[in-house]
Amino acid sequence: MTAGDGGGLATGERVLLVDPRGRRYLVRLTSGGAFHTHAGIVAHDDLIGRPEGAAVAASTGRRFLVFRPTLAEVVLKMPRGAQVLYPKDLGAILLAADVGPGMVVLEAGVGSGALSMALLRAGAEVVGYEVRPDFAAQARANVAALLGEDVAYRVEERDVYEGIDERGLDRVVLDLPEPWRALPHLEEALRPGGILLSYLPSITQVAELRRELDRRRFAMAETAELLRRTWHVEARSVRPDHRMVAHTGFLTTARLLAPEEGQAGEGPGGGAGLSGPGPGLSPAR
Ligand SMILES: C[S@@+](CC[C@H](N)C(=O)[O-])C[C@H]1O[C@@H](n2cnc3c(N)ncnc32)[C@H](O)[C@@H]1O
Repeated sequence: MTAGDGGGLATGERVLLVDPRGRRYLVRLTSGGAFHTHAGIVAHDDLIGRPEGAAVAASTGRRFLVFRPTLAEVVLKMPRGAQVLYPKDLGAILLAADVGPGMVVLEAGVGSGALSMALLRAGAEVVGYEVRPDFAAQARANVAALLGEDVAYRVEERDVYEGIDERGLDRVVLDLPEPWRALPHLEEALRPGGILLSYLPSITQVAELRRELDRRRFAMAETAELLRRTWHVEARSVRPDHRMVAHTGFLTTARLLAPEEGQAGEGPGGGAGLSGPGPGLSPAR
C-alpha cells in the first residue's frame, strides 16, 4: 500500500508513528504486535483499521499520531548500508536530470536504493550498477518494501568504471567517487541529448569531473548545490533553526552531444573545440 491510498491502515503496512515530541518511527504493522518506546508501548491492533492522521494512546496515556510515510520519511528511516542521498537532493536530482515516466535511467552506485526509489516513483525504468553485493541486496529490499516486486528495476553487481552494456539510455545518474572514469562508457551508452547527473561531496572531485567533461563529447555542464534551512515557528519565536545540514553534495549535469560533433582533444588545440566558449556549448563562467 502507498501514501496514495485513503483506506484504513492494514496489517503488513509500514506506518510512521510520531511521538508527542515530534520524533518519528517507521513501523510495520503486525497483528498482535507492539511498538516499544520510552514514551510507552503502542499496540499495533490499536492502529490497524484506523485512518491516517489518527491519534492513538500508548500504554502511558501519551498520544502518538500515525500516518503513511512519505518517500522522504522512508529514505531517512529505512535500513541502510551506504549513506543515502538526502531528500532535498533527491528532489533536485529529478528535475536537474529531467527524469520522467518511461525514461530508461542507469544509476551507479545504487547504495541503499534511496535514489532508485525516487527515480522509480518518477516513472523511470532503472538499471542499477553496484559493486557491493550486500548493498545491491539492501537496495533491492528497500525498493521492494516501498514499491513491491513488480517495478521496472534491475540491479547488477558490477563496476561501472569497467563498462556499460546498455545503449540508448535517456539518463545516467552517478553517486560514486570518480565519475570521470565512467565518461568514456557513457559516450557509448547515453543517447545524444541524454543527461548525465553526478552527485559529489567534494568540490575537488567536481573540478576533476568538469575538466574531463570539457575534454569529451559533453556540453551544457552545470554545477549547483542546494541549501535547505528549516525554521522554528512557535508563538513569537519565528526564526531559522539553529542547526542545519549545511553541506551534502554538489550536483553536476551535462548533456551528450551527437557523435558527429566529435570529441574535444581529438585534433590540435582541442580538436572540435567543445571545451572552448563556443555558442551554447559551454555556459558563461
Ligand atoms: C553513497 S553510495 C550511493 C547511495 C545511493 N545514491 C542512495 O541514495 O542510496 C555510493 C555507492 O557506490 C558504489 N560504488 C562505488 N564505486 C562504484 C563503481 N565503480 N561501480 C558501481 N558502484 C560503485 C558503492 O559501493 C556505494 O554503494
